[in-house]
Amino acid sequence: MNIIKKASEMQKIALKHIKAGDEIGLVPTMGALHEGHISLIDKSGKNDDITIVSIFVNPTQFGPNEDYLKYPRPIEKDLQICKKHHVDYVFLPSVSEMFPDEHKTFVEVKEMQDILCGAFRKGHFRGVATVVAKLFNISCADRAYFGLKDFQQLKIIERMAKDLNFTTKIVPCPIVREKSGLALSSRNSYLNAKQKSDAVLISKTLREAKEDFKTKSLQIVLSAAVKKLSSIPESKIDYAEIVDFDDLSLANSKTKKASFLAAVWVGKTRLIDNIAMSK
Ligand code: PAF
Repeated sequence: MNIIKKASEMQKIALKHIKAGDEIGLVPTMGALHEGHISLIDKSGKNDDITIVSIFVNPTQFGPNEDYLKYPRPIEKDLQICKKHHVDYVFLPSVSEMFPDEHKTFVEVKEMQDILCGAFRKGHFRGVATVVAKLFNISCADRAYFGLKDFQQLKIIERMAKDLNFTTKIVPCPIVREKSGLALSSRNSYLNAKQKSDAVLISKTLREAKEDFKTKSLQIVLSAAVKKLSSIPESKIDYAEIVDFDDLSLANSKTKKASFLAAVWVGKTRLIDNIAMSK
């Protein structure tokens, strides 16, 4: 496994592989790897000749009062995981490598970036779309793997890849959950034991909403879910919404395939989760 810190070097290596006829898979991460990331790495291992994992805590996707400095960075452990899972290259750039002072170009995915999480995290998806566009170009990836846990992020990246004619194919991958149902997230490490067990109610609420969606009105499904989420100790709901599965527009009574998305604070930790639902 090679660790590459320079974008130009990573790109040169990727181009060499492409010339040799290899197909490249990219798993973009911010590190603090867990079973969710590992499922993406293993999927690339199956599909692609070469797997590149990028580890970069991207400052441009954090707001001024968010957890950029506190975000976990267990780099040695992450590298061990990558090695164990047969990653070929870890792309590990510095902030100045990705965003030197003279950097001026940003990618915006209008409308989709301003709703749901985007309404509460101004500029977040602009930072995500920009870094992902750079990573696509640096890695020359044939395929890039994204977890469905960040559903809005996935939809925004799919839109961006289409709009900007990227050749990288986006591969959505299922949410990995603890036995309790809690969706894996690097931010779960901020939760204490009690908060972690209380947070299980988020996934339970989504599963129940999925059942209710089959027979009940949107309004009833939503109000029952909000009531349950509000009962979590120390909780504050940023949003709980049912949206069209394909374009994130608000669902209506005609929507057949939807997604229930929720962002809920448990103490000082913001958790997101979602579930697909159909009639
Ligand atoms: O999902 C993440 O970990 C990040 O948003 C990503 C896609 C690696 C971009 O920094």
